[in-house]
Order: sequence, then structure tokens, then C-alpha cells
Amino acid sequence: MAKKVKIGFVGCGGIAEAHLQGLSTHPDVSLVAFCDVNEKRTKIVQEKYSKEAETFTDAETMFRNVELDGVYFCLPPFAHGAELLAVKYGVPFAVEKPVNLYEDQAREIAQAVDEKGLMTSALYMNRYRKGIQTVREMLKQDPAIFMLGGWIGGSPRGAGDSGIMSWWIQKDKSGGQFHEQVTHTVDITCFLCGDVIEVHAYGAKGFNKGVPPTYSIEDATVVNLKFASGAIANLWASASSNGGGGGVTLNVYANDFTALFSGWEHSVKILRAGQNPEEIPGEGNIFSIEDDAFIQAIKSKDPSKIMATYRDGFKTMQVTLAANKSMEIGAPVSVQ
Ligand SMILES: NC(=O)c1ccc[n+]([C@@H]2O[C@H](COP(=O)([O-])OP(=O)(O)OC[C@H]3O[C@@H](n4cnc5c(N)ncnc54)[C@H](O)[C@@H]3O)[C@@H](O)[C@H]2O)c1
Repeated sequence: MAKKVKIGFVGCGGIAEAHLQGLSTHPDVSLVAFCDVNEKRTKIVQEKYSKEAETFTDAETMFRNVELDGVYFCLPPFAHGAELLAVKYGVPFAVEKPVNLYEDQAREIAQAVDEKGLMTSALYMNRYRKGIQTVREMLKQDPAIFMLGGWIGGSPRGAGDSGIMSWWIQKDKSGGQFHEQVTHTVDITCFLCGDVIEVHAYGAKGFNKGVPPTYSIEDATVVNLKFASGAIANLWASASSNGGGGGVTLNVYANDFTALFSGWEHSVKILRAGQNPEEIPGEGNIFSIEDDAFIQAIKSKDPSKIMATYRDGFKTMQVTLAANKSMEIGAPVSVQ
């Protein structure tokens, strides 16, 4: 029987489970270690996904004691840094978006990864979608001029004291909705159009009622992006659609076509003058597709099927952090 890929997890909360559901039945994967500062979470995932796995509350102890072929970091934005252990121990890693909250720490990790030549995957699952890849190919011939999009959800009135909603609503933990959530849309625009060179953002605060006292993110953000290609984008985040009308959108306008992405699954309708629209539905099992690319890359030692590296994730993060900086100083910010 072929050797299985031994996988560990650091951070065993909500998104870790989304990956574990597929990985626990993947024929090439053996789940061998679960680490979380909350021991209860390690026991829950051990019980559900791999009774043979060892559990830890400290990442260094896990790396020292378990032989790993790959590791997932599924941590809140403020809790990164253990990626340096993966570099130290030479373990390829996958990391959930956004890859960090602190630019200096992420730059140090990106440099260490590059110096070691370590295989990494920044988990921007939308890059694996057929619709996104189709539009990306079309844009190589007919570049994007303008993009419009973002995420609008309801006010987090029922946010609890544990899980994602406890840290998501705190600006100094999540980085805010644009950094934490609309990072997906920013990443797609970078995948489609290349590097962003300048960012100008506005935020609205103090409107949302009935939210927990720890709520400190913007109620809404609008962000203008300028790309090195000359294209421009206007993206937004808001937690305000309590009366309806929210959702996930990205419109891409080029000379000869328009691509309208909608919904979490990013189904796309491609419009061309005088032709019937072409529709490509978004994949529901996108985490399994993204995870399989990482597992096959480890098995074959060939990273070519990985659509976003740590360095790509770092670049996307620089854009969303520039938006935060722009809101803070009230002026455009360049991205280097
Ligand atoms: N790709 C997607 O669509 C998607 C969806 C949801 C969340 N996410 C991202 O995944 C990340 C985690 O989100 P989540 O929903 O799983 O949050 P969560 O709060 O449900 O889980 C995070 C887990 O990390 C643990 N943790 C915190 N600090 C730790 C540390 N230093 N070492 C080990 N464990 C630690 C917590 O105890 C918790 O169990 C976030 O960056 C979020 O943006 C991505």
C-alpha cells in the first residue's frame, strides 16, 4: 500500500473542521496530530476525525514529537507565528486566509519560507474554481478595466464569547471585515489582475446597534484599488444587511466581456455583446479540491497545482492592511 501523507493541525476550530471532513476520508491522508490552545477542541476533533492522532496544546511540542509530512494552520489572524516552527522542522504547510494580522511577522515567515524553499499553500480556495480560472485565462487576452465587489452580511448581534464570532468582531484580533473576509475578493482581483500598487479606503463606524460591547470593527468599508496594470477596483465590506440585500459579489469588466460572480460559491455568468450568457456554477466541495492539491503536491514533491503560496497570501494581506492604514490616516497608501 502507498505511504500515506501524515498531516497535523494547529488550530482545531470551525474552518479546521471544514478541511478535516474531507481529509479524514482522503485515501492518501493519515491525520496524526491535533494542536489547539483550547485542549477541548483537540479532543473533539480527535474523537470525530482520527482517534489515533496525538493531541497537543503547544505547537513546538507537536513538531518535536510527531513526524509530519504537512501541517495546516487554521488560526485567527492575531494568533499566527507558529509557521516559523514548520519552517524550522522543514514541514510543508497550508495556512488559512488571511495569513496574519501583523505585516512584520508575515514578512519574516515569507522570507524564512523562501530561504528554505519550503512548499506552502495559502488557503484561498476561490483560486481553484473553474469559473475564476476561465475568466483569468480570458483576461490574459482582454485585460480587466474595472472590478466591483465585496461581502455584505448582517450585523453580528448574536456574537458569542467563543469561536469565530468572539474574535471576528474585535478589530485588534481579526483586522476587521475587509481584512478577514473581503480578503477573498481582494485575493481574486490580485489573481486576475496582478499586483495592487495603491489603496484608498473609508470606514463607517458607530451605526450598528445591539452588537456586543467588544464590537470594534467598521460597520462598513469601501476601498479603491489601483493595479500595476492600470486597472482599478472598488471593493466593499459591510455588516449591515439586516433588512436583506446582502451577499457576495464580484463584477469584472473588460473590453469585450463582463464576468458577474455571485454567492459564496462564486458562480459566474459571462456576458458578451450579441451572445447568450455563459454560466459556470461554483463548486460546493471547494475545500476538498484545494486540500487535494496540497496533498498531491506533498506526495509528488511538485507544487505546480498549488494556486496560492504563502508569498501570494502575504501580498494579499499587504493590500487589506493598507486599507486599514488608509482608514487610519485618511489618505491613499502605496503597497510595496
Ligand atoms: N477559507 C474560508 O472560507 C474560511 C472560513 C472560515 C474561517 N476562515 C479563516 O480561518 C481562520 C480560523 O477561523 P475559524 O473559523 O476556524 O476560527 P475558530 O475561532 O473557530 O477557530 C480557531 C481555533 O484556533 C485556536 N487557537 C487560537 N490561538 C491558537 C494558537 N496560538 N495555537 C493553537 N491554536 C490556537 C482556537 O482555540 C480555536 O479553536 C481565520 O483566519 C479565518 O479567517 C477561512
